[in-house]
Amino acid sequence: MPKLMLALDVLDESEAIKISEETSEYVDCIKIGYPLVLATDLGIIKRIKEKTNKEVICDFKVADIPATNEKIARLTLNYADGIICQGFVGLDSVKAIINVAEEYKQVGNSKKVIMVTEMSHEGAKSFMQPIANEIAKMAGKLNVDGIVAPSTRPTRLKELKEIANNAFVISPGVGAQGGDLQEVLKVLDENDYVIVGRAIYLNENPKESAKKYKELL
Ligand code: C5P
Repeated sequence: MPKLMLALDVLDESEAIKISEETSEYVDCIKIGYPLVLATDLGIIKRIKEKTNKEVICDFKVADIPATNEKIARLTLNYADGIICQGFVGLDSVKAIINVAEEYKQVGNSKKVIMVTEMSHEGAKSFMQPIANEIAKMAGKLNVDGIVAPSTRPTRLKELKEIANNAFVISPGVGAQGGDLQEVLKVLDENDYVIVGRAIYLNENPKESAKKYKELL
């Protein structure tokens, strides 16, 4: 049974806190990205953590040179339990983030590095899909904690999970993007996460929707 990760891409702090509190009974982890952080500030991560007591992963899909990735990771992991980065930028850029996470681990503060392999939207087929298996191989080589792989394409999800065999998978695409949860459940296991955003936070009753997804999982 995979876990449920809420993609909290709302643009208002009070709405974000309300939804995360309402759904926290059913949600295992909260993913916060540019929409909410840019609409508020980086401290929103800490405030959501305090209100919900949940693990918060920051989805900045960091994709820069090693020196800049290191700065972004340091600032983000000061608040978040984990950070999502892009793999296509190459081994050294991802390693820079892993090094920052290692520093936190050395002082007893576990931080997760999660790397995107192939994205879930249609456009990802053009440039990302042809190189995604190589990116997943790199995930194994670097021993990242997790990878992002698409629920919109269960066959690809399965392939990428197999290639990056030590990493857990977090998978977006169920709900608003139309991914088939039953197919996804054939691939994911208890270490993995199904990411659901709009189908929960845009629902007129986010708590009921989160409950429904948790039960389906
Ligand atoms: O609203 P929805 O359920 O489609 O949200 C999916 C979330 O997962 C969004 O936060 C989106 O940015 C993110 N994501 C994705 N595809 C990826 C990586 C992240 O949809 N490959």
